Amino acid sequence: MRNTSVLFVCLGNICRSPTAHGVFETMVAAQGLAEKITVDSCGTGDWHIGHTPDQRASAEAGQRGYDLSHLRARQVTPADFDRFDFILAMDKQNLADLQVMSPSHFSGELALFLSFAEGDVPLEVPDPYYGGDDGFATVLNLVESASAGLLKEIGGDVAGD
Ligand code: 4NP
Repeated sequence: MRNTSVLFVCLGNICRSPTAHGVFETMVAAQGLAEKITVDSCGTGDWHIGHTPDQRASAEAGQRGYDLSHLRARQVTPADFDRFDFILAMDKQNLADLQVMSPSHFSGELALFLSFAEGDVPLEVPDPYYGGDDGFATVLNLVESASAGLLKEIGGDVAGD
């Protein structure tokens, strides 16, 4: 398989999708696949463009060894459907918004990120923005599980090149 690319999408691109971005990027690098798998994230909304991740997300990620400090929020664009093979939504509303934008020629996979998680997990990553800090631990748990499953699914294909 040729190189591949993954775009994680949530609403604001400051909590869930940057967490997925940082976790998956770290796992990809640990497998020596950074040259083969491009990782990015964005939001369907425009409120936080240019912002660093929410400090609660950065703190929770940092505790588990993931650095989110290089990330800046951006909004999804039509060009993303030409650039990415996997466009993975954090919740069903994000997915619905992306389906409306998706051009008929899009040949990648547009799906819920947690469809790649193993075991008994929900389908959506709950939005932690208006909740307490434990929401961010939940996000990390779900994101780590789905990242491991996603890397298992695509890592073998790209590693053989
Ligand atoms: P995210 O969380 O989609 O996981 O980045 C949110 C961040 C900001 C807002 C909503 C959700 N907001 O309404 O500003």
